[in-house]
Amino acid sequence: MLASAGFRLFANPRAARTAPYGKDGREAILSLAAFGEAKREIMSWPGYKPTPLRSLPKLAARADVGAILYKDEAERFGIGSFKALGGAYAVFKLLRKTIWEQKNIVASTLDLTSGRYADLTSHITVTCATDGNHGRSVAWGAHTFGCRCVIYIPETVSEGRCQAIAAYGAEVKRVAGTYDDGVRRVAADAAVQGWTVVSDTSYEGYTDVPRDVMQGYSLMVDEALEQTSAVPSHVFVQGGVGGLAAGVCSYLWERYGTRRPCFVVVEPEKADCFYRSAVAGRPTPAEGALDTIMAGLACGEVSPLAWRVLETGADAFMTIDDEAAVDCMRLLADGRFGDDAIVAGESGVAGLAGFILASPDADARARLDLRPDSRVLVFGTEGATDPEVYRAIVGRRPHEVIAAERSIR
Ligand SMILES: Cc1ncc(COP(=O)(O)O)c(C=O)c1O
Repeated sequence: MLASAGFRLFANPRAARTAPYGKDGREAILSLAAFGEAKREIMSWPGYKPTPLRSLPKLAARADVGAILYKDEAERFGIGSFKALGGAYAVFKLLRKTIWEQKNIVASTLDLTSGRYADLTSHITVTCATDGNHGRSVAWGAHTFGCRCVIYIPETVSEGRCQAIAAYGAEVKRVAGTYDDGVRRVAADAAVQGWTVVSDTSYEGYTDVPRDVMQGYSLMVDEALEQTSAVPSHVFVQGGVGGLAAGVCSYLWERYGTRRPCFVVVEPEKADCFYRSAVAGRPTPAEGALDTIMAGLACGEVSPLAWRVLETGADAFMTIDDEAAVDCMRLLADGRFGDDAIVAGESGVAGLAGFILASPDADARARLDLRPDSRVLVFGTEGATDPEVYRAIVGRRPHEVIAAERSIR
């Protein structure tokens, strides 16, 4: 069903199917209690509305499963990806904490958006490394809640993604090396400049902010479950540093315990740090230049916090090639099997592409227990975050895909 030279699938021998949530202190990383706070806060932000959960019944019939549900994050807060839920939430929490520490006041969203404490917040600079989407979220958060922002991007990130960040008033610095090199450079520069790092990945001695970032992501799965009548049997989710996957996995684990869906993490074969870590049984970096078209997933090292959740929370790890991601974008844009057309970016389709590749493979079906009545949930984590890259891949602009869809309906 998808053009591809193949995929790798590793059934996780450490998957703790029967373990209660909280074993090994997982609840100290992510919890439904902390999520409740994130949910209340993010839902109060101007422009909040749940993103659609789309059903792909024709594709499901082809793949011989009962349903495919696609949580479409293309319109999230107008910034094009689910990342709006994480980085911006962490910026909000950071500013509120500073106001509390200096003025003993719990600031509201309105306090920050109206600039009530601008005398204080405008002197704060937040910074991070990004392949695009996280930096856009942090820049949007800084713009919305009123502080300065400096974003580091690898040289390989497209000009369109760079401009989308700068559009929120952030200073954008292009730096040599990969995303992971950028993370180290930001940590060093921030220490010298007195800036505050708002990273989506954790590292030694730096865990509070990435925890807030991941906690914000859980809102996606919470919304999705409100939007469907039955709990999914399978979830396929793409992995970069793992924050997204951990945010979804821990939510499902705590809410459904041993009845939680089978959880599969899907990565680009050229940036397969979770796959390698799962095989080795400990955090293990990807090798090579990380030159995958799935820019948001081009990460060479796992976030240690996310690894602690996924090491036992994921049932399987998969890798897919760029060809599969590209063809999956086209499949969605064409409505190839008769479903409504969807605009999705390179990193946004990886989970769905992983499922589609696994679905006709007898061995993969058996290992993942995929059946004709399975209900598969995937997260379309980005729309056309770089419209030029999208056009080059799909052959049409995002608005042309949507216009063609509307003319059919
Ligand atoms: C569109 C998209 N999907 C998924 C991910 C993966 O998220 P994480 O790095 O938290 O695993 C990213 C990361 O930037 C992304 O941009």
